[in-house]
This record gives sequence, structure tokens and C-alpha cells, in this order.
Amino acid sequence: MDSINIIFVRYNWINMLDVVVGGGYGDEGKGKVVSYLAIKDKVAVNARAGVGPNAGHTVIYEGKNYKVRQIPSGFVNPSAKLLIGSGVLIDPEILMKEINEFSVTGRLVVDSHCSIIEPAHKEADRNDEYLSKKISTTGTGCGPAQVDRVKRVAKQAHDAESLKEMVGDVPEIINSAADNKERVIIEATQGTFLSLYHGSYPFVTSKDTTASAACSDVGIGPGKVDNVIVVFKSFLTRVGNGPLEGEISPAEAKQLNMLEFGTVTGRQRRAAPFSKELAKRSIMLNGATQVAITKLDTLYPSAAGVKRMDALGEEPRAFIENLEKELKVPITLVGTGGEAEDMIDMRKEKGF
Ligand code: IMP
Ligand code: MG
Repeated sequence: MDSINIIFVRYNWINMLDVVVGGGYGDEGKGKVVSYLAIKDKVAVNARAGVGPNAGHTVIYEGKNYKVRQIPSGFVNPSAKLLIGSGVLIDPEILMKEINEFSVTGRLVVDSHCSIIEPAHKEADRNDEYLSKKISTTGTGCGPAQVDRVKRVAKQAHDAESLKEMVGDVPEIINSAADNKERVIIEATQGTFLSLYHGSYPFVTSKDTTASAACSDVGIGPGKVDNVIVVFKSFLTRVGNGPLEGEISPAEAKQLNMLEFGTVTGRQRRAAPFSKELAKRSIMLNGATQVAITKLDTLYPSAAGVKRMDALGEEPRAFIENLEKELKVPITLVGTGGEAEDMIDMRKEKGF
């Protein structure tokens, strides 16, 4: 009897629960990838993981530019249920602003165990010489709030009056969606090499940022994950201090169209060419089953807006094909512009 049950479980197996995680130093284009999937796959549930409002995800959909720091990027699909996992820090002020701006009332659930960022955390982050100067944090209070969480003196979402209407049990919702074979996307934030455990310590954020941490953040066990999609930009950027191998000057970055500015802080991002070595390590640390490459059009302007692999020029196509051979993980999604739908989607033909 038992073996028959097991066979039935496998028979129903389908790629339903994906984790989208950054493969670099953040700002790889996770917002774009998640918003694309949310629309294209008619995602039922999009849960945000990661540190908190230190992350800014950019979504461009139907000509409009959105920046989200707390709510999941899949909000652009009006039927997606939106969750914020217990691992995530909440700045109630920023969250309320986004709720009012992005019409998500009634479909957003914040886990009752989320920790709260208070004004004193932000002051501490900005006034502490070590954090603000040496590490050059985002100043959003995340590190000091984590300290209070670890000291077990932090306020939680269920203590905050302003969050009363939206507090709930995220693990329960996301696990029952997974059990019902609904399409679920877990959206990690920051990037692999900003991980407190696996990044370039001390120039890192205040917790682990790999796919495993994202699962833990939302209360999903690893056995329920179908795919880990690691997102790489076609070049590297980094904001704040810390090593960046092959870093180019801002002038060169500007010339190559690689000059970017931080979503949260507005700081100029440092830039470097794509690193296959870092990518391979990131694939290992996250257990990647698929790779997404964004901003191919920055390296190859002729790729702008292309939606099919066979419509790409020879050079950009060779770049993707050679990279896939080296990384040994299928490249299934290739971003060719800012709009969510500027995407070459090869998931079907590659068996996903
Ligand atoms: P914190 O996370 O604000 O404590 O900042 C620690 C380091 O992580 C700094 O170098 C930040 O610039 C960087 N960082 C944190 N969040 C992000 C992000 O979402 N994108 C890029 N860099 C980030
Ligand atoms: Mg960002």
C-alpha cells in the first residue's frame, strides 16, 4: 500500500514551487524575473524572503516603473496572493506606503513572527561608524534590528497595531498552496555573496541570503522545492564596500552602459565583468537547477527586446550557449530589456 502511495506522489510531480535567488552581490534583476514569472505562469502565491527593506526590487510592467522594498515583485499579477515570510524584517512605514501605492490590500499576508525595524535601529545603522563607513550599509536599520532579534528583545509583527489587518501564518498558507500544486514563487533578496555565511565577510548583509535561507525565511522545507533559479546579470555590480574582482572605473562602466544606481540608497554601483568562477560557486551554494541571465542587451544592444533564441544575433547567442556549457546548468530565462516581458523563455524546450 505504501509503495503505491509513493508512486502516486511522484506521478503528480511538476515544477510548481520555485525559489528565485540572486547569484551575485544583489541587483541581478530578481524583481524582473519574479514579475515575469508571476504574469506568465499565473502565479498563485509569491512569498518574499530575505533580510528586509534594505533590498529594492525593480519591476517594469506595461510601461510603469515600480520599486518594491517589502512586498513581493509579483504584485503586478492582481490575482497573486502575496506573502512576507517570518525571516523578513518589516519597517511598518515603508510597508504601509507600498500597500497604499500598489493596491495589494486584502491579498497581502505578513507572518506574525516577522521582526519590526524601529526608528532607533535606523539611527543606529546610520550613526555607527563601523556600519556606515567601513561596511557602508544601506542605513535602513536591518543590521541593528537583527541584533535585537538575536538578543530576543525585538518587537514582532503581531505586536504592531498598524499591521493587525494583515498578520497571518505564512508557513501554513505557502505549504497548503504547495500541497495543492498551486504555482508558488519564493523571492529571495540581496545576493549570494552578500550572505553572512558565504559572502565576503565582513562586507556582507546581516543574514544568509542563499536559497536555503529563503526557504527557511518563509517556512518551506527543502523537500518541497522543485526548482532553484539563480539569477545573474550579464555583468557584476556591487554597492558599498568589499571586494569586486575585475572592477572597472566608473568612466568605463558608463561607456559600457553598466553604470547603475542603487534602488534603495541611490548610490552609484561599482561594476565588473561577469565572473564564471563566482557564478559556479553561486550555483553550488544555491543548488541551482536553472539559471536566469538578465540584461543581455547591455552586453549586446542588438538583443534588446528579443523574445526568441533564434532571433538573437550570433554573438549574444554564442555567449549564452557557451556560458551554459561552462556552468553546466540550463539557462532557461534570458532578459533582454527592462520590461517584465522582455524575456527569452526556454523552460519548455529544456524540459521544465
Ligand atoms: P545592510 O544589508 O544594509 O546591512 O548592508 C550591508 C551590505 O549589503 C552593504 O554593502 C549594502 O550595500 C549591501 N546590500 C544590502 N542589501 C542589498 C541589496 O538589496 N542590493 C545590493 N546590495 C545590498
Ligand atoms: Mg536591488
